[in-house]
Amino acid sequence: MTRTIGIPLDDDARRIAVDHLQPFLVDLVALALDGKQLHWHVTGPEFRPVHQQLDEIVDAARTASDDVAERAVTLGIPVDGRPATVGKESQLPELPEGWIDARDAVAVYVAALEGVIERARASVPALEVEPVSQDLVITILHELEKQLWMLQAQLR
Ligand SMILES: [Fe+2]
Repeated sequence: MTRTIGIPLDDDARRIAVDHLQPFLVDLVALALDGKQLHWHVTGPEFRPVHQQLDEIVDAARTASDDVAERAVTLGIPVDGRPATVGKESQLPELPEGWIDARDAVAVYVAALEGVIERARASVPALEVEPVSQDLVITILHELEKQLWMLQAQLR
C-alpha cells in the first residue's frame, strides 16, 4: 500500500524508485553484516588496519541502509530489511567460515563491494524518474567507491 506524502510525484515514479531502493537496501545490510563477520575474524600482520577499515565501511553501509530505507518510506512505500529477506535476496559472495587472513579478507570484501557498486550504478539511469532517490544512490556510491579504492590499494 502506498501512503502518499505531499510531494508532487506520481505513483509510477514512487514504485520505480522503491523497486531500485529495495535491492540496494538488501545489498547494504548484507555488506554491513559481512563487514562485521570479517572484522571479527581477520588475522595476520595486517590485522589492525584491516580490522579498523572494515568497521569504517560497516558504519558507512549502516548509515546508507538507513538513508535508503527512509527514502523509500518517505515515498510512501514499505521496504523489507528483515534478516530472512536479506538472507534470501543477498547477492554477495558467501564468506568462508571462521578465521581469515587479512589479505583474503580484503579480497573477498573487494568482490562484495564491487558487486554492490555495479548493481547500484546499474540502477542510476532508471532512477531518473525520481531524482532525489537517484541523488541519494549517487551520494552513497561516492562513499562506497572511495572505500573500494582504499581496499583495492592494499592488494597491489
Ligand atoms: Fe569491533
